[in-house]
Amino acid sequence: MNILHLSAECYPAAKVGGLADVVGALPKYLNKRKVNASVLMPKYGNEWMKNHSFETVYEGNAPLGENKFKFKIQKGENIALGYPLYVIDIPGRFDRPGIYSETETGCSFDDTFERFLSFQIAALDWVKSMSDQPDIIHCHDHHMALLPFMISRSNRYQLIAQIPTVLTVHHAQYHGRFELQKTALLPDFDSKHRGLLEWDRQLNCLAAGLKCCWQISTVSPSYMQQLSEQSNGLEWLFENEQQKSRGILNGIDTAVWDPDSDSLIAQQFNDDTIAEGKLANKKALSRRAGFDLQYPLISYIGRLAHEKGADLLPDLFALFLSAKQPVNILLLGTGDRELHNQFEKLNRQYPDYFHAELDYNETLAHQIYAGSDFLVMPSRVEPCGLNQMYAMQYGTVPIVRNTGGLKDTVIDLNQPDGYGITFDEFTLEAAEQALWRALDLYQKDEQIANLRPRIMGLDFSWNASANDYIKMYSALIE
Ligand code: GLC
Repeated sequence: MNILHLSAECYPAAKVGGLADVVGALPKYLNKRKVNASVLMPKYGNEWMKNHSFETVYEGNAPLGENKFKFKIQKGENIALGYPLYVIDIPGRFDRPGIYSETETGCSFDDTFERFLSFQIAALDWVKSMSDQPDIIHCHDHHMALLPFMISRSNRYQLIAQIPTVLTVHHAQYHGRFELQKTALLPDFDSKHRGLLEWDRQLNCLAAGLKCCWQISTVSPSYMQQLSEQSNGLEWLFENEQQKSRGILNGIDTAVWDPDSDSLIAQQFNDDTIAEGKLANKKALSRRAGFDLQYPLISYIGRLAHEKGADLLPDLFALFLSAKQPVNILLLGTGDRELHNQFEKLNRQYPDYFHAELDYNETLAHQIYAGSDFLVMPSRVEPCGLNQMYAMQYGTVPIVRNTGGLKDTVIDLNQPDGYGITFDEFTLEAAEQALWRALDLYQKDEQIANLRPRIMGLDFSWNASANDYIKMYSALIE
């Protein structure tokens, strides 16, 4: 079974968030199960692309509206990822370092639509030229969501229209919305199909993908149910397409996220050496942050965005910091500029108790999972969430809001067999309560000592989910 994944992100080549981690890992675990999965992504002008070599396997010239553009499909050479990595080189579109936006200013590129549309056209032209075509084209998120429309409705792709398409929704908040006139850029666009591209009088890439793909999937069962109530205006569409939808929980790449072999952390540890290991890592982290080792250490890692509930954090943290509670709080992430200001202010006000690094830093993220006592995720919406699973692999207790994938992966300590701290309402009070429970738990040495090996032993690997994907693919091919 040949599966071609199309994504704007893939770890380690280009990452903004969890999408990269999933696309960077799932194909590897599919291939361990005798699938032939590969990944196709844009060739950005970033360091990773510059430091790896690629061999051109196809060259083409394709239409974009009235114009034509040249592209090259290249295969990564000597890159041990567990799957073949292909990139599309489109001069003038992707040969800049940013993935979605200018790296300096954070401003989105104004040719976003043209970039990802030309990528998808080039991908389809390549597939059409292949002697051994993929059995399934698996598209990720709205950037790749026009492909199911084009392959099934454009004369240019008639010969490959029978290839089934899967669209995985990693976050339904983002749709890829553009003015309707942009439809003119699609190859052989026939206006009788306009309705398939349209939602609320706009060209909506995600909506088009949902309508035209063979199979919709999203990244946890609970989030699947939520989509008909909460998808930024697409509720009715998700509801309507339910019979071709399913939720499959993401796994984590246990080869990358393993405290026993992680070379990025201060001291490696496993089941038998948890106590020393956690302590050594907490020491290193506390030194960096200027913290007191005695205090419980609560961390947040992630984009500083509304859907992550990051706007709740300044007030939440201030409640504990201003009352001089014995707690240390560490934050790593970038995003909303107003939040940057607020966290910088907390940095200045409480240098001994609070430490924010407003940055994207993969190495530090590993160190934080390893050295923290708790990881907090107050998300408004969380399709799956990977950080809570990374945290647990490193013996760090999750404090999460009960929603989407967080709900599917964290059972509250008050439930039978529970192992985390959860809260239901998205309010300051509920989050505060949850943090108090954490501080309370921290005092109970024996309970913490029992809990850590238990959460480290939970299985969040891709094993079960990769099999679910294979079942889904097999059903489509039949
Ligand atoms: C998005 C979602 C996150 C999910 C990830 C990978 O980043 O916000 O919840 O884990 O995609 O699917």
